[in-house]
Amino acid sequence: MVKNLLWAAIASLVLFFSTGVAPASAVELDEATRSIPLDTTGKTATLTTQEVTSGQRLFNLQCTKCHLQGKTKTNNNVSLGLEDLAGAEPSRDNLLALVDYLESPTSYDGEDSLLELHPNITRPDLYPELKNFTKDDLYNIAGYMLIAPRLDQRWGGTIYF
Ligand code: HEC
Repeated sequence: MVKNLLWAAIASLVLFFSTGVAPASAVELDEATRSIPLDTTGKTATLTTQEVTSGQRLFNLQCTKCHLQGKTKTNNNVSLGLEDLAGAEPSRDNLLALVDYLESPTSYDGEDSLLELHPNITRPDLYPELKNFTKDDLYNIAGYMLIAPRLDQRWGGTIYF
């Protein structure tokens, strides 16, 4: 029993230090934490805790190698922090705009397509790791990115790699 508890503690510590973010599944998130802007019209979307956890898992799997803790390796001026997302053209600080980015990423000023430069689901030939992503996966991962700043105050912070 004590041994099991010890292993559980070690496992969560390993998860915490490998991802930098406490697992969302460790707690049932309240509704305010799970509610995020859907689009730019003021509508909101509310994810379930399971959806947030699923999004976090996919993010840790596919995105942390460049976006650990919401920062952006090689160009942290374009972090996943809310201010940077809001400043993009079009602004990316809502669920549908982030889903759109994963379908068709564009440069920060919106001028250039990054289909050949940033992971997306439109070019499975270039990004096979995302080829099994479902629409739900996209929503969950996008939702997680908007909720993560509430779970980790250093999300997207200015600590450079
Ligand atoms: C190989 C490294 C790499 C991987 C893997 C990666 N990204 Fe990125 N990401 C970048 C870079 C670099 C930028 C900045 C692009 C630019 O200059 O506009 C970026 C930008 C972004 C932006 C725009 C941020 C803003 O402020 O406008 C989002 C959203 C994003 N990535 C999400 C993701 C998600 C979700 C995943 C996982 C499915 C992912 N990225 C995987 C390197 C990566």
